[in-house]
Amino acid sequence: FFQCSSKTTHRGSSSSFIAYSSSNGRSSNDSVDDAGVKSVEQLVEEKKRAELSARIASGEFTVKQESGLNFGPKSFLIVSDPAIAKHILKDNAKGYSKGILAEILDFVMGKGLIPADGEIWKVRRRTIVPALHLKFVAAMIGLFGQATDRLCKKLDAAASDGEDVEMESLFSRLTLDIIGKAAVYTVLREAEDRSVSPIPVWDLPIWKDISPRQRKVAAALKLVNDTLNNLIAICKRMVDEEELQFHEEYMNEQDPSILHFLLASGDDVTSKQLRDDLMTMLIAGHETSAAVLTWTFYLLSKEPSVMSKLQEEVDSVLGDRFPTIEDMKKLKYTTRVINESLRLYPQPPVLIRRSLDNDVLGEYPIKRGEDIFISVWNLHRSPTLWDGADKFDPERWPLDGPNPNETNQNFKYLPFGGGPRKCIGDMFASYETIVALAMLVRRFNFQMAIGAPPVVMTTGATIHTTQGLNMTVTRRTKPPIVPSLQMSTLEVDPSISIS
Ligand code: HEM
Repeated sequence: FFQCSSKTTHRGSSSSFIAYSSSNGRSSNDSVDDAGVKSVEQLVEEKKRAELSARIASGEFTVKQESGLNFGPKSFLIVSDPAIAKHILKDNAKGYSKGILAEILDFVMGKGLIPADGEIWKVRRRTIVPALHLKFVAAMIGLFGQATDRLCKKLDAAASDGEDVEMESLFSRLTLDIIGKAAVYTVLREAEDRSVSPIPVWDLPIWKDISPRQRKVAAALKLVNDTLNNLIAICKRMVDEEELQFHEEYMNEQDPSILHFLLASGDDVTSKQLRDDLMTMLIAGHETSAAVLTWTFYLLSKEPSVMSKLQEEVDSVLGDRFPTIEDMKKLKYTTRVINESLRLYPQPPVLIRRSLDNDVLGEYPIKRGEDIFISVWNLHRSPTLWDGADKFDPERWPLDGPNPNETNQNFKYLPFGGGPRKCIGDMFASYETIVALAMLVRRFNFQMAIGAPPVVMTTGATIHTTQGLNMTVTRRTKPPIVPSLQMSTLEVDPSISIS
């Protein structure tokens, strides 16, 4: 995938343009029927392409950086141009579906919000978005703090024992709530493998019953489903018994969960749909944030000056207390570090769509049914769009400027996508990663472990390492200054010590 994406960054290269192949898996070079006779349509198509290629080669216009990519019988059109990304994600969003993504994720997310399209998506999005209102996210900040504090305790023990730690899996555990890591991980890895497998072996009737791997996946999925169904049943009982009236910023203090909100909203929804939505959020909100933290710590280990500046800010804003919602505005440099990490390691690195109709992308006509990868990776690292594109430079985002997003960056920066299908957990995820980053760097210094395997990336739903992120963790020698020990009203459990 990454090899392919580097090829697509050649502007004006006619070869990458012609390399495009249609979604039936045939390239423009094999548009010959079985008898070796070309149809009129094919000839016209070829002539059009040849003319277009000649115009591109003569420099008449710049190729919009589309290119083709084949995975066995599947092929995709790759988009790496901000204007075309905007067209697909926002301006003509109705003309595109999630396509192959919905097919791959069906077994785990069903009709959950990420893969859903059409009416189901519209109805569920309208119900779920309000569940992530500001008061809910603010309440979650306490939980982020408690979870990070538990991680700090583990790191403390490792620092005392002089043992190196594998941060990627620790971040996974940090961001994974409710259900055991093993179960969700197994199903998630399966989704990734399915996305690159040319033959859907998981659907073969006998194979799925005898393959040990498929049986493990089925068992993991059953565990997750049973757990979620159980949670739904318990929560339904709680909602039935409570006397709270549902309103815009509804939140049950004892159980401020999204599930509780969704059930209390009284929306007429099946348990299966609720399970699909929960599973979707569980996966979407776990894997992505863990990957962001992993790559942020990797980047910080390479830039000690950024780490020092970050620690300075965290010491002065937080001192030794848990972060609160008010701190989110003050931790400006910490936010910029996350913004920049998301630029260099976007999660997911590609957005997948399928055209529902014929369309024109820039100068380039496409047919209905075209599978498209919007390469956020290419957009975020394009030397024509960014100064020092590959450099980790949080300073590129001014501290007093707006928080960078797809709108103010004209679709060259898409950390949370854009248009109607933009991430619904952007604020939740931003605060979650800011809290974790701030609390960890306040307490520890992190270095790449000596003798650890090199950090090599691989990609599926998100970008991860092939062999983990092995780091040496040491306690910071200078104790942080404590400006205030006050906690906000949306605070964490005061019995928890952060010594
Ligand atoms: C969609 C990124 C965290 C739930 C998306 C999309 C991106 C994204 C790029 C757009 C996908 C597309 O257009 O195809 C991220 C990143 C996260 C994060 C980088 C963490 C740093 C979360 C969290 C939740 C969440 C915490 C849930 C609480 C969703 C859902 C969608 C989505 C439900 C689908 C929305 C729709 O199609 O209407 N996310 N996400 N994400 N995200 Fe996130």
